[in-house]
Amino acid sequence: MDSKAEKQKAMNVESQIQELLSQLTLEEKVGMVHGKGLFCNGAVERLGIPRLVTSDGPMGVRMEFPDDSWIPVGKSDDYVTYNPSNSALAATWNPELARESGRVLGEEARGRGKDVILAPGINIKRDPLCGRNFEYMSEDPCLIREMAVPFIQGVQENDVAACVKHFAVNNQETDRMAVDTLVDERTLREIYLPGFQAAVQEGGTYSLMNAYNKFRGIYCSENKELLDDILRDEWGYDGTVISDWGAVHSTKETAEVSMDLEMSVTNDFDDYFLADPLIRAVRDGEVSEAAVDEKVRNLLRMMFRLKMLGEEAPHRKQGAYDTPEHRRKVLETARESIVLLKNEPSDGKGGQGGRLLPLTEAALAPAPVLAESDGRILSVRKKKIAVIGHNGEHQHAGGGGSAEIKALYEVSPLLGLKKALGGNVEVCYAQGYYIPGKKGVNEVNWQEASLERQVMEQEDPDSEGQRALREEIACNRRALLEEACALAKEADTVIFVGGLNHDYDTEGRDRGDMRLPYGQDELAEALLDIAPDTIFVMVAGSPVEMPWRQRARALVWCYYSGMETGDALAEVLLGRVNPSGKLPETFPAVYQDTVTYKNGQFGLEGSIEYREGIFVGYRYYEKEGIKPAFPFGYGLSYTNFAMDRLGVKEQNKEEVVLALEVTNTGLMAGSEVVQCYVTDCDCSVERPVKELKAFRKVFLQPGERREVCLTLPRQAFSFYDTAKKSFVVEPGRFVLWVGNASDNCKLQAEIMI
Ligand code: BGC
Repeated sequence: MDSKAEKQKAMNVESQIQELLSQLTLEEKVGMVHGKGLFCNGAVERLGIPRLVTSDGPMGVRMEFPDDSWIPVGKSDDYVTYNPSNSALAATWNPELARESGRVLGEEARGRGKDVILAPGINIKRDPLCGRNFEYMSEDPCLIREMAVPFIQGVQENDVAACVKHFAVNNQETDRMAVDTLVDERTLREIYLPGFQAAVQEGGTYSLMNAYNKFRGIYCSENKELLDDILRDEWGYDGTVISDWGAVHSTKETAEVSMDLEMSVTNDFDDYFLADPLIRAVRDGEVSEAAVDEKVRNLLRMMFRLKMLGEEAPHRKQGAYDTPEHRRKVLETARESIVLLKNEPSDGKGGQGGRLLPLTEAALAPAPVLAESDGRILSVRKKKIAVIGHNGEHQHAGGGGSAEIKALYEVSPLLGLKKALGGNVEVCYAQGYYIPGKKGVNEVNWQEASLERQVMEQEDPDSEGQRALREEIACNRRALLEEACALAKEADTVIFVGGLNHDYDTEGRDRGDMRLPYGQDELAEALLDIAPDTIFVMVAGSPVEMPWRQRARALVWCYYSGMETGDALAEVLLGRVNPSGKLPETFPAVYQDTVTYKNGQFGLEGSIEYREGIFVGYRYYEKEGIKPAFPFGYGLSYTNFAMDRLGVKEQNKEEVVLALEVTNTGLMAGSEVVQCYVTDCDCSVERPVKELKAFRKVFLQPGERREVCLTLPRQAFSFYDTAKKSFVVEPGRFVLWVGNASDNCKLQAEIMI
C-alpha cells in the first residue's frame, strides 16, 4: 500500500474508533481498560468488540489458565513449540533468525487464539546476577535493536501484537515491585532506551509492557516522563501500553498518563485501580472521561491493526501451533545459538586438526577386537561416551516464572547425543551433582504470590531442618561424585553437561553469586583429574564463574535453546554443524570484577543508583582494562576466517559504508559475525573505548571469499548531549574497528566528520 492509501486507511480507522467511542458507556470503556480475567480485558458484545486475549511469553505460548485462577487448566491441547530464549536468540547474532523466531511465536500465539504475546524481553543485562537475564538479549543496545526489531515484525505478521517488556530500567528482580531506579539522563538515552525506541519506531510494536519498578521516584505505570513525554510525545507512539501484572498502584495518577490496560494477578477484577474506582473517580470529577477515552482509543487502534475489528476482520490470519516447520526453525536457531568458548588440542586421543572438537566419526568408531593368534577381527568394542551432569538430562521449558511453557517435547543433550550416535556407541549417563528437592514450593502458585515482597521464604539456616538438609546434600553429593568419577574412568570420551536451571535463572529472584551451584566446581575438577580431555557443556541463561576453565580444553556454551537443544548440541559436538554463536554479553572471570559489585548498586531494596553510568558490560571492562573470562562478541568456529581490505566505501551526511573481504581459510563451511565498533577520538564528554555499531553474519564455504558491507548511520557516531537534550555528533576523528569479537578487532579505518 502506498503512503497516501495508508494515511487514508489510518484516518478511516480513527473515525471508526471515534464512532465506537461515542457509543460506549463509561462502564463499558472502563471494562476495556482493566483485566476481567487474568489474561484478558472486558469485551463489549453489544458493539462487537471482543475481549483482548494475552499470553506469555518469550519462549513459547504459555499454558492455558482459567480466567480467575492460577491453577493451569491442565488439558493436553496447550503443548507448544518451545522457542529458544531471548538470550539464546541474541547469541546467534542473526537478525533473520530473530525474524523467524518472531514468526514462529506469533503464528503459535495466533494458533492458540491469542491477540497479544507478552514478548520480547529486551531489558539491558546490567548485572550477570539478574534472575531474568535469560529472558533478555544483551548488555548492548545495538545488538538488542538489531535483534528485537525483526523479532517484533515477525510476530506481528501474524496479526498478533508483540508486547515489548519491561519499560523501563527493570534490570533486577530484587524488590522488583517497588525498587526506585535512579539513572542519569545520558545513560538512560544511550543504554537503556534505544532498544525500546527502536521497538516503537522501527519495529512498529503494537504494544509495550510497563515495568514494575519506579523510575526516578515514580512507578513506571504512572510515570509521565516515560509514558507521555518520551514514549508518546518524543517517539510518536500510538500503540497500547499494558501494565505488568500488578504493577498499577493508583487510580488517578495512572488514569492520567498513557497507560492503557491494567492487568494483575488477583481475581478481584472489579476492585482493580482502573475498574470500579475509576468509574467513581470519573463520576466525582477527579479524572476526566477524556482520559479514559484516550486509553480505549489506543486499545481499539491496536484491535483494528490486529484485524479484530473492522472490515479486514474476516481476513485475520488463523495461525498454527506445533507445526513441523516451527520445529525446523527452532532447530536452525538453536544451532546458531551455541557458542564455542574453548577448543584446544587434545592430549593425543583424537580430535580433528589436533583440537578436541568436533568429535570425529573415526574417534567414535568401534575398535576391532583382534585374535591374539592371527590378528583376525573377532568382534568390536564400542566406544563409551560418558555424559555427566544433571543438565544432560534435565528439561527446562517448564520453569523460570512467566516464561514457563508446556513444551511439546524437549530434546535433552543426552537424548540428542544418543539419537545422533545410534547403536554403535555406548552413551552412558551419570547425574554427577545433586539437586535437593524443593519442599512445599508447589503449594502456592508463585504468580499468585508475586505481589508479596518475598517470593521465596528463606528458612533459618540454623534450624534443625536446614542442618539435616545440609547433611543430606553432602551425603548425596559425595555418592553422585563417586559414581560420576567411576564412569569417567572407564569412558573413552567424557562430556560434562552442567550449568544452571530455572531455580537460578528465574523471575522474582536474583542469584546470590555467580558460582556454579550444586558442587559442580568440585565435580569439574575431579573429572579433569581423571580425564583432562573432558568436554564441558554449560547450559545456562546467564554467566557463571568457571574457576576450572583454564584447565578445560573444550568448553561449549548453550543458553536455553528450545525444544531442539539436544539435537543442535549433538550436531555441534559431532561437527555436523559448525558453531557460529557469539556471546551477547561479557562473561567476567569472577563476579567481583563487575562494576555493580564494586559500586554496590545491584540487588538492593528501596533504591538503586546506576552509578556506573554508560559503562555497562564491555564498556566498563574495556575502560578499566579488566580481562574477562570471555569477552562480548566472542565465539569460536571449527574453521578459520580472515578479514582484510577494509575501506570506507562511502561517506555522506546520512551514513558511512564500510567494505571488507572475509575469507573462510579453513576446511569446513561456517559462519562468521563481522563486528564493527566505533571510537570517538575527539569528544567533549567521556566516551567508551569503543561501542558496537554494526554487524553482519556471513556464511562461507571453505576457501570462499566475499565482500561484506557494513552501514553505519549518522546516529552511530553520536552521544546524548544533556544540555541540548538530544543526540549530537561532534566533528572530529572516529576510528572504526572491525573484527570477530570485541577483543579481536584487527582491522581499522579512520574517518573525519
Ligand atoms: C512478569 C511479566 C509477565 C506477566 C504475566 C509478570 O510477573 O513480570 O513479564 O508477562 O507476569 O504473566
